[in-house]
Amino acid sequence: MSETILLDRPSAAVEPRPQPPLGLLAEVTHRCPLRCTYCSNPLQLDPKSSELDTETWKRVFSEAAELGVIHLHMSGGEPTARRDIVELMRHAAEVGLYTNLITSGIGVDEAKLDALVEAGCDHIQLSMQGADEGITQRVGGYKGGFERKQAFARAVVARGVPLTLNAVIHRMNIHQVPEMIEKAVEFGAKRLEIAHTQYYGWALKNRAQLMPAREDVDRTIEEVETARERLKGTLVIDAVFPDYYARYPKLCNGGWGTRTFSVTPSGKVLPCHAAETITHLGFWNVRDHSLAETWYDGPAFEAYRGTSWMKEPCRSCERKHVDFGGCRCQALALTGDAANTDPVCIKSPLHESIGAMATTESAVAEPGAATYRGFRAG
Ligand code: SF4
Ligand code: FES
Repeated sequence: MSETILLDRPSAAVEPRPQPPLGLLAEVTHRCPLRCTYCSNPLQLDPKSSELDTETWKRVFSEAAELGVIHLHMSGGEPTARRDIVELMRHAAEVGLYTNLITSGIGVDEAKLDALVEAGCDHIQLSMQGADEGITQRVGGYKGGFERKQAFARAVVARGVPLTLNAVIHRMNIHQVPEMIEKAVEFGAKRLEIAHTQYYGWALKNRAQLMPAREDVDRTIEEVETARERLKGTLVIDAVFPDYYARYPKLCNGGWGTRTFSVTPSGKVLPCHAAETITHLGFWNVRDHSLAETWYDGPAFEAYRGTSWMKEPCRSCERKHVDFGGCRCQALALTGDAANTDPVCIKSPLHESIGAMATTESAVAEPGAATYRGFRAG
């Protein structure tokens, strides 16, 4: 359905005025009790001292609602690390945003959960690092996390709040996919995302330790398919598979400056969560510009919106309105130029070498220790 709409877009060099955004990812803090090796946050995390204050976040949420945003994803880091999280949640709900709290569940006791629900939290997305304590600890660098996550998941379901579990899959936990599916059912989650790692931030740094073998990915695809059939009506399973092994790139974030955007803890407005890696772009800050000004006229949004910036082979490709050339951040990270075709695409001259690199990295028997996310390790 959405693909048909995208295909019908005009391909003229003059881009039509963008539609308003549908979703905002508000990274209200980079502070987090976990230190996940797969984290997509930037290596240079925003310190607490640079975070937007309560009133500024509230203004951002009001502006988002006025601009047309429907879904607000409150994330981080760990969003509940902010003392004002309940106040922020209440304001977001009051201005009419559908609120999704993306959390590790660590440090959210029942009283805080009650306060968040009372303030208007519509949906909770809980990260899942593994199906037991050992893997959860190894991936997240935090002891005792699995027990806390179980308790939190049950507390959310007991309050009637829809729960999605988000399991980021990689080499360290790919063998636990069937158990994670069973845990999702046991917890009473409505939805499970089996999301293979996307290589940005800390995950890119740890790619050699995280890259799964092709045969393990293929097995996961079968496991997910089988479970989907068996659990119809009980659990919805969404799956994202690693694009290094794909033929075509993903439509990243629904297209650059097309559907969603992000605000960092310090107020930078980004077309996608990893856009800061494209360092030649100038990012406007909510302290200086309204969200509407930035969405429609910000130079970073203009840079890769639509198709007029494309080079070959994207420029003359029949899929250019389907995937918009893939991911700009991945193109930069793997080719050195954000305007290049995402090299996971089969039409990219680098496609073969990306697949070969993934296979080589995944085959190293002892890839060394992954680096845990942290404020000083970047
Ligand atoms: Fe997408 Fe560009 Fe590949 Fe065509 S060449 S499929 S537009 S990434
Ligand atoms: Fe930035 Fe894909 S993550 S465009």
